[in-house]
Amino acid sequence: MVDLQSTRLTEAILRTAHAWNTQNGITGVLCEGQGVFLQVLEGERGLVTRLYSRIFADPRHTDLELIHCESITKRHYGEWSMAHVNLSDVDPQTKIIWPDFDPYSPGGALVMTRIADLIAEGRTVDAPAS
Ligand SMILES: Cc1cc2nc3c(=O)[nH]c(=O)nc-3n(C[C@H](O)[C@H](O)[C@H](O)COP(=O)(O)O)c2cc1C
Repeated sequence: MVDLQSTRLTEAILRTAHAWNTQNGITGVLCEGQGVFLQVLEGERGLVTRLYSRIFADPRHTDLELIHCESITKRHYGEWSMAHVNLSDVDPQTKIIWPDFDPYSPGGALVMTRIADLIAEGRTVDAPAS
């Protein structure tokens, strides 16, 4: 079953993200599943902070938590203005990589590894390249 409301919300977010992130050198990944968004933002520290505050204030979601923060010398998702991974139940491959999608319990480093695995697996990314 496809949740049209959620699909439209995600499409709107990805449209905004593609435009703003491209202009501001932000790259990353937006994962969604079981009513939860999980996002990686990469970019210049000040710009990431600015974007994080805007996302924080966005009333279209609640209970935002910062799971992991680190300085990096090379981007992991530099080719995407915002890649999109749908952790939908209909994707058996995704279920193997992340059977019980729960970004809160594992540590931040493990969450980052899981996301990298999803991207490496490749088939679930459907956002446009930046
Ligand atoms: C889960 C989620 C992720 C988002 N990711 C981005 C993003 O990567 N880039 C972006 O510009 N807006 C993103 N947005 C939209 C922002 O929250 C905000 O609506 C947008 O930046 C416009 O901000 P403004 O209303 O203050 O102008 C995201 C929203 C949500 C709910």
